[in-house]
Amino acid sequence: MTDKLQDIAQAMVAQGKGILAADESSGTIKKRFDTIGVDSTEDNRRDYREMLFRCTDAMRDHISGVILFDETLRQNGADGTPLAEIISAAGSIPGIKVDAGAKDLAGCPGEKVTEGLDGLRERFREYHALGARFAKWRAVITIADGIPSRTCISANAHALARYAALSQENGIVPIVEPEVLMDGPHTIERCYEVTQEVLETVYADLYDQRVELEGTILKPNMILSGTECGRQAGVDEVAERTVSVLKRCVPAAVPGICFLSGGQSDEDATAHLSAMNAMYDLPWRLSFSYGRALQAAPLKAWQGKTENVASAQSAFAHRARMNGLAATGSWSAQLEQAA
Ligand code: 13P
Repeated sequence: MTDKLQDIAQAMVAQGKGILAADESSGTIKKRFDTIGVDSTEDNRRDYREMLFRCTDAMRDHISGVILFDETLRQNGADGTPLAEIISAAGSIPGIKVDAGAKDLAGCPGEKVTEGLDGLRERFREYHALGARFAKWRAVITIADGIPSRTCISANAHALARYAALSQENGIVPIVEPEVLMDGPHTIERCYEVTQEVLETVYADLYDQRVELEGTILKPNMILSGTECGRQAGVDEVAERTVSVLKRCVPAAVPGICFLSGGQSDEDATAHLSAMNAMYDLPWRLSFSYGRALQAAPLKAWQGKTENVASAQSAFAHRARMNGLAATGSWSAQLEQAA
């Protein structure tokens, strides 16, 4: 591995910064736009994302990198500047989602496996030429009666490790994202147990595939009570259990762990991250790689209208700042109110 991969990974978890996940697939961004009554056209997707990337101060101070969808990495802003250049000019690193989505796993009802390995080497070469310096691949693990199966966990971990090795081969830092979904009535103990098995399997496979951990970033779920569980764990318990499972499973050679928000409220996602950084001395940087928890507020403020751009940008800048503070353990609910 070259020093370069390590340098990129370190920059992705620079102090007080985290990642903006803006890599919604065409289907997912349509769902997000439907909530504000905006058509998901190529121009609207471009205008919305360009609006976020042009929040220069927030990007420079709190956003180390942006995960893009294939279309966005190829798109130009309204003035003809490639969106990837707008991101780089703001001091942030362009990244690319490379998986082809989670598909039904044969023989395993209710479970998914992420596809996209075919032709991936060639795609990495092209993405590197287009300016991407890190990538993301998301595996999805569902908790329900009798699942996840060993079959599902090992198929997904193997694909993540194959992807990560190909990514590094092409000078691109892999974000390894095994997401254990928070949906369902399961307890926080069950979330812990499943996440532990998933992370142990993922790290064994990364080792098997000769992935250099110093040039990777982990993007995990937090340890949470299932959304329909009768007992909802509080902030300190989530922080304690999440740090505990990560310490068991994630080698100290990994430079950083950037959580997904996964459907948590904006404030919960921020509070949980801040508590972990405030309460514990850790071997890796702990930060964010949020999609919804950074974008829900600006999306709602925007409503697809030019006259709302300034308030949407300030909503985004606020969430970026709150999460930047959480990445150093210095967020508080009072700062949220003061906004
Ligand atoms: P959420 O933070 O909305 O879960 O999205 C993060 C992401 O990139 C999921 O792959």
